[in-house]
Amino acid sequence: MKKALIIGASSGIGKALALRWAAQGITVYITGRRENLLQEIQQQYPQQIKIAVFDVNTLQNNFHLEKIASEAGQLEAIVYSSGVGEFNKQLDFTIEKSMVDTNAVAFTQIADWCWHYFKQKEKGVFASITSIAGMMSSRHAPAYNASKAYQINYLKSLRLKAAYEKLKLIQFTDLRTGFVDTPMAKAKAKFWVADVNKAAAQMDSAIKNKKKVAYITKRWRLVGWLSRHFS
Ligand SMILES: NC(=O)c1ccc[n+]([C@@H]2O[C@H](COP(=O)([O-])OP(=O)(O)OC[C@H]3O[C@@H](n4cnc5c(N)ncnc54)[C@H](OP(=O)(O)O)[C@@H]3O)[C@@H](O)[C@H]2O)c1
Repeated sequence: MKKALIIGASSGIGKALALRWAAQGITVYITGRRENLLQEIQQQYPQQIKIAVFDVNTLQNNFHLEKIASEAGQLEAIVYSSGVGEFNKQLDFTIEKSMVDTNAVAFTQIADWCWHYFKQKEKGVFASITSIAGMMSSRHAPAYNASKAYQINYLKSLRLKAAYEKLKLIQFTDLRTGFVDTPMAKAKAKFWVADVNKAAAQMDSAIKNKKKVAYITKRWRLVGWLSRHFS
């Protein structure tokens, strides 16, 4: 792989994956709203890392993606890492909406753009960092779990659509992730918390090996299986 784009790479998992790819000599476009953090990451690999600052919720995503793609020439992998995860015990709609906006609405716009982009190129990988939470329900974070379930189902649907249209070289990868040690992992009761670099390494491998679904880290497959059979 020579060129990739990670949407939501100013911190956490997206950042770790960007640094990993840059160290491998891959040109990586990284995005987010916090320009200062993006610049700090770029300084570590000035030749490999390019930055673009935008808020996915303004829904100007097609404009930004066109600009990045025209500069890059050919993006082989695009990863959607932007996400919001909040506990919302009060069921405050504003908080619910922030998760639906980022994890479902902006995700959809970007996934659709990637569909058309890779269809035109006849190959490529779109991957999204979903969550084990998307396989379960939660009374504390209904919109988070529901929006991750949406991503899981949407990716599955795009996979079906690609198979129907015989687009064999386009892959939609569901990076179904358990707890990773980033500010996003807010639950008090956490277990099997993965180091962010370990999670990024497994995502790297899943994307390059064109996996449909990858449990990050691998042991979360067991929880996935239990949730499919008992929830
Ligand atoms: N950590 C975990 O335990 C865990 C588990 C399962 C799934 N995940 C998923 O992994 C993904 C990455 O999360 P993380 O753990 O790495 O947390 P993080 O460090 O908080 O990263 C979230 C990223 O999303 C970006 N983002 C958020 N809202 C955005 C917006 N409106 N526009 C553009 N970018 C936006 C942030 O950039 P800016 O703030 O600079 O915009 C940041 O780069 C998320 O989708 C999350 O749901 C995480």
